[in-house]
Amino acid sequence: MWSRPRSACGVWNGPVTSNDATTAGAEATFAGMWRDLAPVGRDGRSGGYQRFAWTREDHTLREWFASEAERRGLDLTVDRVGNQWAWWGDPDAALAAGRPGIATGSHLDSVPDGGAFDGPLGVVSAFASVDALRERGFEPDRPIAVVNFVDEEGARFGVACAGSRVLTGAMTADRARSLTDADGVSMAEALRAAGRDPEELGPDADNVRRVGTFVELHVEQGRHLSLPEVDQPVAVGSDIWPHGRWRLHTLGEANHAGTTRLADRDDAMLGFAAAVIAARRAAESHGCVATIGKVVVTPGGVNAIASEVTGWLDARGSDESAVRRVVADVTEVVEEFGGLVVEDSWTGTTPFDPGLARRIATRLGGIPVLGTGAGHDAGILANAGVPTAMLFVRNPTGISHSPEEFATSEDCLAGVAALTTVLLDLAGGAS
Ligand code: GLV
Ligand code: MN
Ligand code: MN
Repeated sequence: MWSRPRSACGVWNGPVTSNDATTAGAEATFAGMWRDLAPVGRDGRSGGYQRFAWTREDHTLREWFASEAERRGLDLTVDRVGNQWAWWGDPDAALAAGRPGIATGSHLDSVPDGGAFDGPLGVVSAFASVDALRERGFEPDRPIAVVNFVDEEGARFGVACAGSRVLTGAMTADRARSLTDADGVSMAEALRAAGRDPEELGPDADNVRRVGTFVELHVEQGRHLSLPEVDQPVAVGSDIWPHGRWRLHTLGEANHAGTTRLADRDDAMLGFAAAVIAARRAAESHGCVATIGKVVVTPGGVNAIASEVTGWLDARGSDESAVRRVVADVTEVVEEFGGLVVEDSWTGTTPFDPGLARRIATRLGGIPVLGTGAGHDAGILANAGVPTAMLFVRNPTGISHSPEEFATSEDCLAGVAALTTVLLDLAGGAS
């Protein structure tokens, strides 16, 4: 049974006692991997992470992934997009024999000042589960892959799940190549700087076909599992809310903050401020959530009237038409001020394979089934027709996309145990 007290926020405190599906070795490797990743991209003051696609930090994380694959003798392949796959077994031979593989993993990039768990928990747990399976002497009937999807958060180029979207054809390579970061660097340029050929970028059906089933383990991004009436370390996912991102532009005229009379101003900030209030009101009235968490003001001087404001609206809800109504309400206000709204991305309601979710919930002793408002590569794969499931690990703070994001060591290991059990079940074979 689990017996460890809660460790300090975001820090793995080392091995804990074992249970049926993990092993002492897997616990130790989990702890070692967590320690190795902890300093990469960590902000010394906030404790949060800056890990953005195709940066130096991302390169370090990719090297780490490759070395973990090598340490285990897994075959590392990199698809046309740059997603990394570490295969235990030959996926093409198995596919030819009608036994497509089981992939598990997540992402290593972060939002600005992100937490330690969103993404890395799924990748580290996947490697630890492989270790646990091997320690038991398990020989899978189907090959198993650990995957690191690139650019899940879209923190640098604006579109979330860029790696899985291009992989599955949900976003074209041309569009991806032309996305730019805050410094005007295009994804094509960033790929080139990272040593990749941007022309190689594109859908990769051969890689997708290898994946018969995908399971993503992720930290919970809410407090459902911590509710006293629930009180469980792990849940299985049911669906992802419809969600999207829209760019809001308002225009004005730059002028002096002291000498320009109020009556003479054309201030882009006023229309934008109205849009922020409209987003909150629309979310309330349509039963959704709406967030404007990133704003760029031009020219950006304290003593200059704004000539242009660009902000990003993130809107989500359980009902697609309600989310669309939120965006319509905000658009109306932006247009009243002569501005413009552009859709950057949209993902409709995404159910995970219900039979697979039931099978996993039952196999894990009737664990809770949970929907989520967060986007995931698992959602993109599910929409591409890959049977997909998610496991969520309790987060007692309920906070995510923040340094306060947290999971206890014992719950992380419960997640590894759950994932190991799921892989045992799905990959068949002997143990
Ligand atoms: C990704 O974490 C998202 O939900 O935006
Ligand atoms: Mn996230
Ligand atoms: Mn994530």
